[in-house]
Amino acid sequence: MAARGVLIFLVLYFTLNLIQAKDKKTKPNVIVILSDDHGYRDVGYHGSLFDTPVLDQLAGEGVKLENYYVQPVCSPTRSQLMTGRYQTRYGLQHAVLDPLAPACLPTDEMTLAQKMKEAGYSTHMIGKWHLGFFEEACLPTNRGFDTFLGLLLGGGFHFSHSFPSAAYYDMHRNRSPAKELNGTYSTHVFTNEAIDIINNQDEDTPFFMYLSYQAPHAPLEVPEEYKDPYRGIFQDEDRLTYAAMVSCLDEGIGQVVQALKNKGTYDNTVIIFSSDNGGSIQDAGNNWPLRGFKLSMFEGGMRALGFVHSPILSEKVKGTVSNELYHISDWYPTIIEGIARSSTRGSKSPLDGKNQWRSIRDGTCSQRHEILHNIDPLWVVPGGRDWVNAMSPFNVSINAAIRFGDWKLVTGDNGRTGWYAPPDTNIVSISGPPTTDQRAWLFNIKDDPLEMNDLSEERPRVLKFLLQRIQKYYEQSTPVFYPDAQPQLADPCSNGNECVWGPWTPM
Ligand SMILES: *[C@@H]1O[C@H](CO)[C@@H](O)[C@H](O)[C@H]1NC(C)=O
Repeated sequence: MAARGVLIFLVLYFTLNLIQAKDKKTKPNVIVILSDDHGYRDVGYHGSLFDTPVLDQLAGEGVKLENYYVQPVCSPTRSQLMTGRYQTRYGLQHAVLDPLAPACLPTDEMTLAQKMKEAGYSTHMIGKWHLGFFEEACLPTNRGFDTFLGLLLGGGFHFSHSFPSAAYYDMHRNRSPAKELNGTYSTHVFTNEAIDIINNQDEDTPFFMYLSYQAPHAPLEVPEEYKDPYRGIFQDEDRLTYAAMVSCLDEGIGQVVQALKNKGTYDNTVIIFSSDNGGSIQDAGNNWPLRGFKLSMFEGGMRALGFVHSPILSEKVKGTVSNELYHISDWYPTIIEGIARSSTRGSKSPLDGKNQWRSIRDGTCSQRHEILHNIDPLWVVPGGRDWVNAMSPFNVSINAAIRFGDWKLVTGDNGRTGWYAPPDTNIVSISGPPTTDQRAWLFNIKDDPLEMNDLSEERPRVLKFLLQRIQKYYEQSTPVFYPDAQPQLADPCSNGNECVWGPWTPM
């Protein structure tokens, strides 16, 4: 009797193991590729003179996301990618993380990488982190990544991997400075690492790779040979360098895809591409014909480049353009539940992201009809008029924006309001309206994606509805966490870190 029990147990045990092993093996690999300050205009398939054959082909064979949003600036896009939650939920509403301040993505937030580990994936972070590092607990390898090769800061030099000067080093392999990479161009460093990881991947374990390039973010630097094809095409030297940075990025992504094909893992891999915010006009990026640019609550700040490419997409969506509403926070549940067939249980609540995998894979409707773009109570522009400024606690002097269906409300600051033409064309820029005390704008983005027609006077009821929605989010917000910089203590050349950026002891 007992022997029979043992036998049944063993059979069950091995069957279960077999099923689990098979499931693990068949789980798709996931690569999330982020480009940095990459303008909406600045890719071949959006009609620019940029030569991006790889991005054009990958997007062209996959699903182009043309109603897809990120945050207007870098750290918050990354924090929402990692957590699936709006930045108002954990205090990162204001600006980007300052390397001299004791702040990082709060360590009680669950990350995408942690969840992918739970789902049986090996997890790899390559490139720009920019989610804080003042404590050990903030580092990528303590936030769910098995391996890290990259930068902790947000805008260092591309060859010397340093900021603000060559002496201050910021290229790390896991917990150590990777000094041997000093002098190698950042895009090449990250591409090579991605290829190594793909080549060395154990075939029974799926992998999750977050490949976060720092190109084409300033400083504008690139190996000379990438500039040659653009000579005579771009007169403006900055624009030429920026285009060359995008070309190098495009080439690198092509090499990563080729590595997947050589290794035989391409057929079971999902590639997600996204920019992190709008292009910066001052740094040669361009978002024409969208209004505004990086940091702006107008579309040019946050309507992003994005596509999904994978052999496992349904045949009927391959080569299509999706106009469904998606947001950077959606990747968290989309990847964990949709692609990895795992669970988001144990994540902090509420999750703001929606699982969009079926929508993207099969071309069905988005699970989302609303996006809180942000509410930044530290960015206040006094002024405003009429009843729209009479609400409390939210009022329209606060820099904020929300989308509901086709409608969008923008409040507060009205800087960066123009339409900035690409310097390489005959197109003429349109300056924004003169500064007034107007602090609330209402647009129908479907009818008017360029935000030329403010409807805040004509549609007071829609305006009021959106103000009530944003008020609700404001009431749920966590207070902003934006501590003062501590330049002396954070300085790696004076805090005992031998001029390598890393954890330090705040006051
Ligand atoms: C990297 O190389 C540059 C140029 O040779 C040098 O000035 C700098 O000190 C090096 N950085 C480190 C951290 O060794």
